[in-house]
Amino acid sequence: MEKMTDQPAPYAIPSRLAHLFSARFSAKPRTFRAPGRVNLIGEHTDYNDGFVLPSAIDLYTWTAIAPRRDHRLHVFSENLGEAAEIDLTDSAPKARDHWSDYVHGVALMLRNSGVPLRGADLAIFSDVPSGAGLSSSAALEVSIASALLAAAEKTLPLIEIAKLCQRAENEFVGARVGIMDQFASCFGSAGHAILLDCRSLEYKPRPLPAGVSMVICNTMVKHGHSGGEYNERRAQCEEGVRLLKRYYPGIDALRDVTLAQLESQRSEVRRERIPDLIYRRCHHVISENERVLRTADAMSRGHLAVVGACMAESHLSMKNDYEISCRELDVMVDLAQKLPGLIGARMTGGGFGGCTINLVRDAFVAKFGDEIRAAYREATGIDADIYVSAAAAGVTELKNYG
Ligand code: GLA
Repeated sequence: MEKMTDQPAPYAIPSRLAHLFSARFSAKPRTFRAPGRVNLIGEHTDYNDGFVLPSAIDLYTWTAIAPRRDHRLHVFSENLGEAAEIDLTDSAPKARDHWSDYVHGVALMLRNSGVPLRGADLAIFSDVPSGAGLSSSAALEVSIASALLAAAEKTLPLIEIAKLCQRAENEFVGARVGIMDQFASCFGSAGHAILLDCRSLEYKPRPLPAGVSMVICNTMVKHGHSGGEYNERRAQCEEGVRLLKRYYPGIDALRDVTLAQLESQRSEVRRERIPDLIYRRCHHVISENERVLRTADAMSRGHLAVVGACMAESHLSMKNDYEISCRELDVMVDLAQKLPGLIGARMTGGGFGGCTINLVRDAFVAKFGDEIRAAYREATGIDADIYVSAAAAGVTELKNYG
């Protein structure tokens, strides 16, 4: 296959970044690494207090850091060859629609959590593709948060790191994302997906089925989250809860609603109750929660046909009810269904572009990648990137390299 990720020796990237850092900032850094994630199932359920089943992947954002004596962050992005400066004493900081907003947002939220931040020099490199639905933002936030904490000689529980990174995106960058991505980047577990209850934040690592690989196919269609459609979906769910609460006062989120309850309030059944658009948004979320639990259960019993069926239903639900797919994602999923070795395929992440996740039997992975690339090129004229990823561990400091 032409375009699998070439996994470099584990320390090649941090050593290169440390050299670049020393040349630029004349100091020896500490280095932190946080993974992106792929979601096996459970899309747009996290901000509805529901269930998700993501796995951290072996694509990462690395941050090299050393403290400064002033109150400024000097940040260099190796990917972009671009530097940014952040003044930590700025009393009215504003997002600039720039990559450094994520750094700035995380620094502010750390300070709001009572961490006395010092100035620091930082160099960043990431191989998580941006705008591909693999959580490049969360990988950046979690990597930065861990590095800034270390430079301040402080620690926080991982769950606090996940939450403050989410707040950075919600309150500073302006995307009302849920907790899934930051949680996966913090709590990823090698060889496992994570079944997370986004209300209680209780989680259970679930081993990926033996003999099965995660093959991620990038449609190369880029999405953006601070763009309105993600926030619009979230508002539609809130509207659904508001309407349903009139009949079921005990509910706080779509997590609390059953499909039977939703059906009985549908406008076709009872005029003026739940308009069709809101009904469909709610239908996706409520049915998706049920699919996550069914998938996790089937995975642990080795019932791979059920896993595949849930993934197929999930994709259709996102296409028809939640309307977050696009032609290229649908083409990629349809092509996968025709290939030998496939267990299940669906779009993954926020939607409107990005990647599909395919569970493929190990023996078929190489052929699957070659064939889907060729067929996708034929159907769309686009060269897809294909990544075969292990389920990876969460954020960590890298020691003893270079
Ligand atoms: C984005 C968000 C997550 C989640 C997914 C959709 O990745 O960051 O919180 O809502 O979309 O499941």
